[in-house]
Amino acid sequence: MAHTRDELRAALAPLRAGGATLSLVPTMGALHPGHLSLFDLALRLGDRVVASIFVNPLQFNADEDLDRYPTNLEMDVRLAESRGVAVVFAPTVSAMYPEGASGVHVQPGPLGDRLCGPFRPGHFEGVLTVVAKLFGLVRPDIAVFGRKDLQQAVLIQRMVGDLELGVRVEVAPLIREPDGLAMSSRNSRLSPRERQDALGISAALEAADSLYRTGVSDADALLGRVREVLGQYPGLRLEYAELVDPESLDPLAAAGTNAIVAVAVHCGSTRLIDNLVLGASDPDPRVARVDG
Ligand code: PAJ
Repeated sequence: MAHTRDELRAALAPLRAGGATLSLVPTMGALHPGHLSLFDLALRLGDRVVASIFVNPLQFNADEDLDRYPTNLEMDVRLAESRGVAVVFAPTVSAMYPEGASGVHVQPGPLGDRLCGPFRPGHFEGVLTVVAKLFGLVRPDIAVFGRKDLQQAVLIQRMVGDLELGVRVEVAPLIREPDGLAMSSRNSRLSPRERQDALGISAALEAADSLYRTGVSDADALLGRVREVLGQYPGLRLEYAELVDPESLDPLAAAGTNAIVAVAVHCGSTRLIDNLVLGASDPDPRVARVDG
């Protein structure tokens, strides 16, 4: 494991020997099967895999959320290594941001104003800034991100294109629990009651998909169905539900091929996001469930 820039440099040098390709999987730790599936894909795409584990303060709006973020570094390192990760980079905040708060930040532009943007001011700026720094530190050939955080993945692809960063960005399938809940490190904060309520999120997305499959494509009708199902779960509070284009994230008046329903929902004090491609083939290669 590398904690400092020097340790990282020393650990990376032998990995690159002989022109091996390097894949990077950035994470904030509290690893679950969703993260592990990213390691698997990274290993299929590149010769060696570097995983970063860093709870990035720059992307949190509320200190409370940052302080409550689950951490388990020892277990994470064991899991990552057992999955074929060659180097885990787990820097401290001061190793990652030696320049402090005064450094140059990456602005997401208009895509950052969509979906989660208005509800999490500064969040995507924090994400893009840390990912750009990780790209600079690791200099990967490939970087793998998950479809669970769709807006994040789209923004990172856009950043790499617009800033000519020369990293191949791959987006891995969204991994769900056997009962449908999208896997997230934050799920560990849910009480048993909240965990039960959280099932309403995937149920609402699936209900919209079922309605779409009967021939209904109007956004108001589809999103109305999402709200109706969520309303049956008293523990859930909807932040947004939108029908969007998968690439531009522009809101759609009607669903066409590959339209996405994206939601953010508060379950107790935990904020959860999820998304689903309407009318996808079954099975959809963009989604997987872990075995129950
Ligand atoms: P984190 O939430 O730890 O997620 C790390 C990566 O795992 C992201 O690319 C995320 O989309 C992916 N991931 C999480 N849950 C997933 C699931 N159920 N299925 C598939 N992929 C999943 O996202 C972040 O950290 C941070 O913003 C980061 C990119 C590391 C920058 O700090």
